Amino acid sequence: MSKVIEVKDLCKTYVVNKKQNNVLKNVNFSIEEGEMVAIMGPSGSGKSTLLYTVSGMDKMTSGEVTFNEKKLSKLNDDQMAEVRLDEMGFIFQQMYMMKNLSILDNIILPAVKSKKNTESRKDTEIRGRKMMKKLGIEDTADNDINEVSGGQLQRACICRSMINNPKVIFADEPTGALNRTSSDEVMNELVGLNNEGTTVMLVTHDVKVAAKCMRTIYIVDGNIQGEYDFGTRATSEDIRMRERSLSNWLMEMGW
Ligand SMILES: Nc1ncnc2c1ncn2[C@@H]1O[C@H](COP(=O)(O)OP(=O)(O)OP(=O)(O)O)[C@@H](O)[C@H]1O
Ligand SMILES: [Mg+2]
Repeated sequence: MSKVIEVKDLCKTYVVNKKQNNVLKNVNFSIEEGEMVAIMGPSGSGKSTLLYTVSGMDKMTSGEVTFNEKKLSKLNDDQMAEVRLDEMGFIFQQMYMMKNLSILDNIILPAVKSKKNTESRKDTEIRGRKMMKKLGIEDTADNDINEVSGGQLQRACICRSMINNPKVIFADEPTGALNRTSSDEVMNELVGLNNEGTTVMLVTHDVKVAAKCMRTIYIVDGNIQGEYDFGTRATSEDIRMRERSLSNWLMEMGW
């Protein structure tokens, strides 16, 4: 297996009202291709910041992130935008869909914008509809974004994150606003994509979500405090046991 993400001595400092806030302090870890990794930790510990800096959405203060063999610090803004469009998928709650576009048009937007995409708009639409069908939301294709449920919107976000066949999907609390049933549905889709080869890095507060990942990285106050590695994918037989053992470990971590 090869490393798709390698993070070396990553630091991120925000300056607010002339006061420095060192949010990430020399963070080191890597993610292998095909892994599904959860980031957990207390509120304010830097989980979202870690996701934003690793995915190039936010600039790092120092250190290096190597993504798919590219050093992010060496890329200019245009190059970074291309990598983000073509090689990364995003499921971030605050990245709302465009209000003036239908669900389907929102889903295919990254493909329409990508310079690498040579297919016709019609073919892209067909591909978009296929994905919607797979995730059980094909009936919402022509709806406005305020005409679908939270769970449907989140599944539409997954379709959008996948439309350019990214190497890695980054998700910040993808199930955070959902009830247990919708959360399970969304996680099943992410696990399915991961089984098909897409690497997933997600932030969650939910042990049930993390137990479905192969590995959990626990972050406190901008430092990695520990890692829990199942080393395998979850099965329906071992999922309860995984939830219990992860939960016990998290308690030891002070969660
Ligand atoms: N854009 C920003 N400007 C200034 N400070 C920020 C910014 N984003 C985050 N911070 C600060 O960085 C710290 C970590 O925030 P972050 O959002 O990464 O936490 P988190 O672990 O994701 O928390 P939560 O579980 O509540 O989502 C906090 O102290 C926050 O106030
Ligand atoms: Mg957060």
